Amino acid sequence: MSNPVLIEQEPAEMEKIIQEFFHIVPGMANAKSVPVVNAESLSKDAFIKKWVNNNQPCLIKGAIKHWPASNKWGDIDYWKSTCEDFRHCAYPHHNYGRVKNRMGIEMGFYEAINRLFSGTDHIFSMPSEPIFRGSRFGELIADLPGFKFLPDSPKPRLYDRMRMFMYRRAATTWHYHDTDETLMCQIKGGKKVALFSPGIQNSIHVAAFMQQELHMEGHVLNPDISLDPLMVNVEEGDALYIPPYWHHGVVPLDGEVGFTLAYCWASPFHKFGDFSNAFVRKLYRDAIKPIKKVSFLMPVIAVCGITAYLFRRLKNKF
Ligand SMILES: [Fe+2]
Repeated sequence: MSNPVLIEQEPAEMEKIIQEFFHIVPGMANAKSVPVVNAESLSKDAFIKKWVNNNQPCLIKGAIKHWPASNKWGDIDYWKSTCEDFRHCAYPHHNYGRVKNRMGIEMGFYEAINRLFSGTDHIFSMPSEPIFRGSRFGELIADLPGFKFLPDSPKPRLYDRMRMFMYRRAATTWHYHDTDETLMCQIKGGKKVALFSPGIQNSIHVAAFMQQELHMEGHVLNPDISLDPLMVNVEEGDALYIPPYWHHGVVPLDGEVGFTLAYCWASPFHKFGDFSNAFVRKLYRDAIKPIKKVSFLMPVIAVCGITAYLFRRLKNKF
């Protein structure tokens, strides 16, 4: 068997991918920075009150620098000694949203990890692998000892508590999370993330454009729509707080092997009662569709959400 060929990184190739993924959003040339806080001086109370309750993103520097995963996951032998060689789907391209834009290849996990580390594929990813006790990646939980500023948090409603992304050069297309709070944790490697708020003009039109990936068919967004995007570099050891309904696109900063962990927890109820947010209204509209298994829960969530939202507004007044 011939040795795999390591593909050297072109000096400006990540910049090209950033252009391709981010600059479909009007206003990206003037993107502002995401606010930065230091994990060492961040309390749970301050994190929840200032950022989570107000649905505002922030970069938490050094949030996970104490995780053993940072030292262990860059070693291919660690993966082979910790995980079974199960059948697995990998992608030799960026992480697109629409199924028609994705082409997965089924292979053994050891073959996938060999291809990832050796760089035989220019772009490669194994996205969104859940990690929980008893799962095929369950042994990795010991490498992920949580956050000092978030010692406990409620179970997420929709997403897995933890899901892992293993990649080389693979960018993730624009998307948003319907519910649940997210900390995007950079275990190995860094990523550039661009975001824009749910409070934008023509929000549902823009969301539909992004969801259908119309830019891949040559369409463009109206450059006069003001999306006021934010941009941030999430470096190794940092975590980015991504609130629900914020669109985000993600591009690795270099062509090396990288690992990201998405850590999720349930959104506070008041977010489901903010009907001034077009994405909250959309959430309820979509849930009415009979195929959604959560439909029967939505009236309960709506009542709790409106009560919590009004209570919070009242509390903030005094
Ligand atoms: Fe995301």
